[in-house]
Amino acid sequence: MNPEFVDQLFKTLLHTEVTKKVHRDVYPAISPSRPELSQAGKVVLITGGGTGVGFSSARSFVRAAADTVIILGRRVEVLETAVSALEKEAKVTGTNTKIISRVCDATNLTEVNEFWKDLAEKGIIVDVYIANAAKFTEPKPILELGADEVWSQMEVNAKSPLYFVEKFYSQPSEKQKFLVNVTSAVIHMTAVLMVAERPAYVLSKMTGTMLFQLIALHVPPEKMQIVTIHPGVVYADGWKAMGFTPERFDTDELCGSFAVWAASKQAEFLHGRFVWTSWDVDELATGENRKRIDSDPEYLRASIVGANGGV
Ligand SMILES: NC(=O)c1ccc[n+]([C@@H]2O[C@H](COP(=O)([O-])OP(=O)(O)OC[C@H]3O[C@@H](n4cnc5c(N)ncnc54)[C@H](OP(=O)(O)O)[C@@H]3O)[C@@H](O)[C@H]2O)c1
Repeated sequence: MNPEFVDQLFKTLLHTEVTKKVHRDVYPAISPSRPELSQAGKVVLITGGGTGVGFSSARSFVRAAADTVIILGRRVEVLETAVSALEKEAKVTGTNTKIISRVCDATNLTEVNEFWKDLAEKGIIVDVYIANAAKFTEPKPILELGADEVWSQMEVNAKSPLYFVEKFYSQPSEKQKFLVNVTSAVIHMTAVLMVAERPAYVLSKMTGTMLFQLIALHVPPEKMQIVTIHPGVVYADGWKAMGFTPERFDTDELCGSFAVWAASKQAEFLHGRFVWTSWDVDELATGENRKRIDSDPEYLRASIVGANGGV
């Protein structure tokens, strides 16, 4: 791979100025061992929890002492490997988190219904839902991919999270729920070459982002707190397949730990909004950023650039 191209690509993908401090690794404010972020007593469901960002999140929830972490995906052997790694983590960290895996195609509504029915029969109520599973796209214009392939991405990246959130929200419990939606910065980077080449992925990730942004308008955070995150540039199968090597990527502890922080009351001020995991949470929670979050309903939300909303 041409080193100049890789340099330029990473410079572009990592560039951000929302906070002055930009992180590429876990730091104390989002450390899963921080008592304010404790997930004790919580059941956490992570779709696509066997690999990449989902697995890193599962590991961080184990470190944050979640009672149970449920990981869901289609490949049994991938889930089995992840379960043993997570069980080992729970032992080493002494959190004794229970790990459950479920083979389930998140787009197959029969399987998804079966999954939630089974949880209900066992008396398991999910407290935290990490909407992470995603389908990626080959680099092709929408009209060349064809409606069926484009729609199959919408099924994984938008319809399936909608179905899951309905099930999650309607569980019979008054306990506050926390939802972290894993999107991608591609939704606001359509001019970047590698992003522009994958418009169907942008379409489906933006749809998923808008979905949770709009749901959050009508659900108070005390009932279900919703935060959408861009996980960073995380070395996962898609990058491997394109021939990248792991050195330049954000640590997977950054996205995992940030997911735990986003699923805590510390992140309530971001209800319905979008953030990068590299942004410094103290700078978001205070100062100019916080003032703007509290006063500007469009800030860190999807909209039309330049139209300036109805405010
Ligand atoms: N890595 C990055 O740099 C990056 C950057 C921006 C955003 N993201 C976002 O991060 C999230 C995770 O991506 P990743 O990079 O970690 O890639 P990944 O390792 O390929 O994760 C995708 C996961 O989703 C699962 N999945 C896909 N389709 C499914 C289905 N129909 N039913 C159930 N599970 C399904 C996959 O498991 P099975 O194949 O076994 O089902 C896999 O575990 C995605 O939302 C992605 O958009 C990643």
